[in-house]
Amino acid sequence: MERSEMHQFLPYAWFRGECVPFETAKVSIATHALHYGTAAFGGMRAIPDPQKEDTILLFRADRHARRLSQSARLLLTDLSESTVTNALESIIRANRPLKPIYLRPFVYTSDLGIAPRLHNIETDFFIYCIELGDYLSPEGVTCRFSSWSRQEDSSLPLRGKISGAYITSSLAKTEAVLSGYDEALLLNSKGKVCEASGMNIFIVRDGNLITPGVDQDILEGITRASVIEIAKSMDIKVIERPLDKTELFISDEVFLTGTAAKITPIRQIESTKFSSKRPLMSLLREKLINITEGRDPNYEHWLTRIEL
Ligand SMILES: Cc1ncc(COP(=O)(O)O)c(C=O)c1O
Repeated sequence: MERSEMHQFLPYAWFRGECVPFETAKVSIATHALHYGTAAFGGMRAIPDPQKEDTILLFRADRHARRLSQSARLLLTDLSESTVTNALESIIRANRPLKPIYLRPFVYTSDLGIAPRLHNIETDFFIYCIELGDYLSPEGVTCRFSSWSRQEDSSLPLRGKISGAYITSSLAKTEAVLSGYDEALLLNSKGKVCEASGMNIFIVRDGNLITPGVDQDILEGITRASVIEIAKSMDIKVIERPLDKTELFISDEVFLTGTAAKITPIRQIESTKFSSKRPLMSLLREKLINITEGRDPNYEHWLTRIEL
């Protein structure tokens, strides 16, 4: 079996209510969630404050904790926002990261044995951390439309980051990479543009920012919501509406947003290349970087500062 390049895991994980060495945080092969995808996860970034030693900045921790808590509710289990934020803080203090990291909080059916269900079952919660620089090239990516479409909200609770849903993302991403592209774009079941394998999508047409609305089977991305809010504050018109595939090919700029991807331009979709001049995306990206690195006092409330 092929193995991808190993991540740099941080030494401590949050497991069964405490910080333990990463290597000792193990689950059984009979773990229910492993078989049925009955789990939900988060994905957050934390960076050492470039302005202040021994301080870690977490971007929109409250929103991430809320989404995970809501995802847990969709799996019929309880995980309070404060349980998530307290564990995040503990694990950051234990690891004292010196580089940008990605945190992966995970809630799952931890019971052993068979039968797909969400009732009468034990659940648990853990967090591990990896070092993470750029997930996609900041210079831009090439994309193709996937032959797989995004699931519908009627078949899966798409407002949560439910593990089982990521089979579609995995199929789409691999199909894209094996056919020579960097990323996949998925349509929804109605044939409208939805999102990429793990990012939301925006286009620019005539100076307006357009993105599929939250009723288009997208994940309600926290970066997406932040970009919309930033753009509106800069008097950029933001339109949330169904997006046709053809509109992508004739747009002035196309870019992806996500915690891992930050703001990543799309250079090319199938045989259509886009201009390397991306004035609106560049403006938004610069603003977002300043905010996440703690240099914009107007958005200080989006950051959690953890003093080590
Ligand atoms: C399917 C999917 N869409 C969009 C996103 C972007 O969401 P966020 O900005 O909250 O990271 C992600 C990543 O979490 C994702 O997995």
